[in-house]
Amino acid sequence: MPTMPGLGETARAIIADGMGILAADETVSTITKRLTARAIESTADSRRAYRELLFSTPGITEFIGGAIMQDETIHQHSAAGIPLVKLLSDRGIIPGIKVDAGVHPLAGAPGESVTEGLDGLRERLKEYRELGARFAKWRAVFVIRAGLPTAACIHANAHALARYAVLCQEQGLVPIVEPEVLMEGAHALEQCEDVTGRVLQAVFNELFAAGASLEGMLLKPNMITAGHGFARHVPVAEVAEATLRVLTRHVPPAVPGIVFLSGGQDAVLATEHLNAINALEGPKPWTLSFSYGRALQDEALEAWRGQGAQVPAAQRAFHHRAWCDSAAAQGAYSADMEGEAGFAPSESTLHTHH
Ligand code: 13P
Repeated sequence: MPTMPGLGETARAIIADGMGILAADETVSTITKRLTARAIESTADSRRAYRELLFSTPGITEFIGGAIMQDETIHQHSAAGIPLVKLLSDRGIIPGIKVDAGVHPLAGAPGESVTEGLDGLRERLKEYRELGARFAKWRAVFVIRAGLPTAACIHANAHALARYAVLCQEQGLVPIVEPEVLMEGAHALEQCEDVTGRVLQAVFNELFAAGASLEGMLLKPNMITAGHGFARHVPVAEVAEATLRVLTRHVPPAVPGIVFLSGGQDAVLATEHLNAINALEGPKPWTLSFSYGRALQDEALEAWRGQGAQVPAAQRAFHHRAWCDSAAAQGAYSADMEGEAGFAPSESTLHTHH
């Protein structure tokens, strides 16, 4: 397997010094659901304003090393006319782009999906790189249910992830490889552990077969948790231990970083879990950080309410959560931080339009 110095450098830069990734790559339909749930109208301009609010938050560059956009956002400009991708890179936040075409029903496997988007991918990667993207994301999803996921579903998605990954590397983009075992359902933590282990093993088998450079990628997995509908509260320590156990068994140490998705966990719990994983004793050959969507954004979106006057409050909420998650990526988070601002007073006067 070749090592690719440029790619490895980018991968490591995204997660250096306790930094993580802001996943702001919700499709138009997904972000529309999140906006309308808070009575905010979803238009190209309100979506642009929301992403600009996040990307321009004062002080965030200490905690956020990369931001993932989707196709609409990477073509948009700030209110001041600066391309959002440039706004990010000028601040030292590495721009990323979601390149999969979403999940589609998998033929022959009722209730399961396969992520599509390989057709024409090489050309789209070229375009995105020209626009300034330095890394990409592709998400595969797996459901836990009686008899699911099937071997066919695991194989099809692992194979597509590997083909995507080598195409990215060929085009000079760092692939974020995201196999997500969903929290949907009432399954126990042990079932999530078993399924996630099988999925990760299949993904790395395919990456090896396809000739991907493990040094030039990041893995974005789920943590090992019980399903949303599981009857018992699972202690943070159990989630942390099971998560590290699975990663140790199935993720080669050549991978520079593992950036967890939040998957519908409450924002504070996602911080606590990441912190507990990093605080565990034992070998951790990769950097363990975050690539959260909802867990990083929920509080900010709640504070914003689509109102210009609320931008500073929303940015404070986003900054605070990113500060906590960055501490957690270093095993240095404590519950006291929830009550603290984490915002230097001199920064609070800055605005989004500069
Ligand atoms: P969540 O953290 O909300 O799961 O989103 C991360 C992501 O990018 C899912 O693809």
